Amino acid sequence: MRTVKWNQNNYTLEMIDQRLLPVEFKVNEYSDYRDVAQAISDMVVRGAPAIGGAAAFGLAVAAYQSDAQTVDELREDLNQAVRVLEKARPTAVNLSWALKRIMRRTADVADSPDALREAVLEEAQKIADEDVQINKNMARHGAELIDDGDTIIHHCNTGALATVDWGTALGVIRTAHEQGKDIHVLVDETRPRLQGARLTAWELDRYNISYDIISDNMAGHFLSTGQVQKVVFGADRVAANGDVANKIGTYMLALAAKDNDVPAYSVVPTSTIDLSLASGDQIPIEERAVDEVLGLTLMGQKVAPEQASARNIAFDITPNRLISGIVTENGVVYPPFDVNLPPVVPED
Ligand code: MRU
Repeated sequence: MRTVKWNQNNYTLEMIDQRLLPVEFKVNEYSDYRDVAQAISDMVVRGAPAIGGAAAFGLAVAAYQSDAQTVDELREDLNQAVRVLEKARPTAVNLSWALKRIMRRTADVADSPDALREAVLEEAQKIADEDVQINKNMARHGAELIDDGDTIIHHCNTGALATVDWGTALGVIRTAHEQGKDIHVLVDETRPRLQGARLTAWELDRYNISYDIISDNMAGHFLSTGQVQKVVFGADRVAANGDVANKIGTYMLALAAKDNDVPAYSVVPTSTIDLSLASGDQIPIEERAVDEVLGLTLMGQKVAPEQASARNIAFDITPNRLISGIVTENGVVYPPFDVNLPPVVPED
């Protein structure tokens, strides 16, 4: 099943509740766009392209939940929904990209509120369907970089769960595996939300791909002892100069990869590339509630002292000098990224 899916029977959005995996596979149903926004904030759904898909269908939910009788009234309700949805998480640009695209492409629909509702849903569905195809195209390009026998470090979760289906960096690994390449994945557990240990490992089990979970601080050891040939990760936003915002820990991983001459690739749909930002220092970085850090338990006990304080930065910026290539649906882009990225990003 897709991570996010429209249910035409009752005009609701269905989403896999990723907070519960791998213990429980549960699908939640949403009929209020405010609940969709909350689900994005709470990470029921996460991963940049999946967040984009959820926001797109969230707008369709808003269109059908509105009882507006005129096109103007409905547009007002949609604008309000955009304002709520776009605040759900700040770093993944796919969220605002999807909302802007729907509003732009439905701007001329003026026949009736129902025509506008249908147009919003149609565009949301297009975004979701395109995402799957885009992932497969990225995966084909990226798989050419993977050699038979490679051991690959992968950070966070970038698989089917992080997208509408298939995956970005993990999609590359899946496709290379399907091509018959013998691959082993070192799965960064990805503190503090453990997307690697919980979600990537769950997906790799389903695809029968060989892996070991490692704690994030083991990556340097595996790189410096020559046990890793590639490092792959996704991104939540890529600036025009190729600086990459991705899950916290990516920067340290890319530094260690560079120091050991191991290529590090970021795999992203072009909807994740934000050409309006010149460099990574302009990308908004999310800081989340500290209970995600302090809630860790070991042998049934909270690890940190009761009064401990903490910080919980959700993403970091990996400067372009540490990135060997950016894999997109339109091909692999190599440095200099400020010159080579803009031509692969479609205007619309
Ligand atoms: O906080 P998350 O789990 O939403 O972060 C996800 C990531 O950092 C992924 O690497 C990123 O979205 C790209 S993968 C599709």
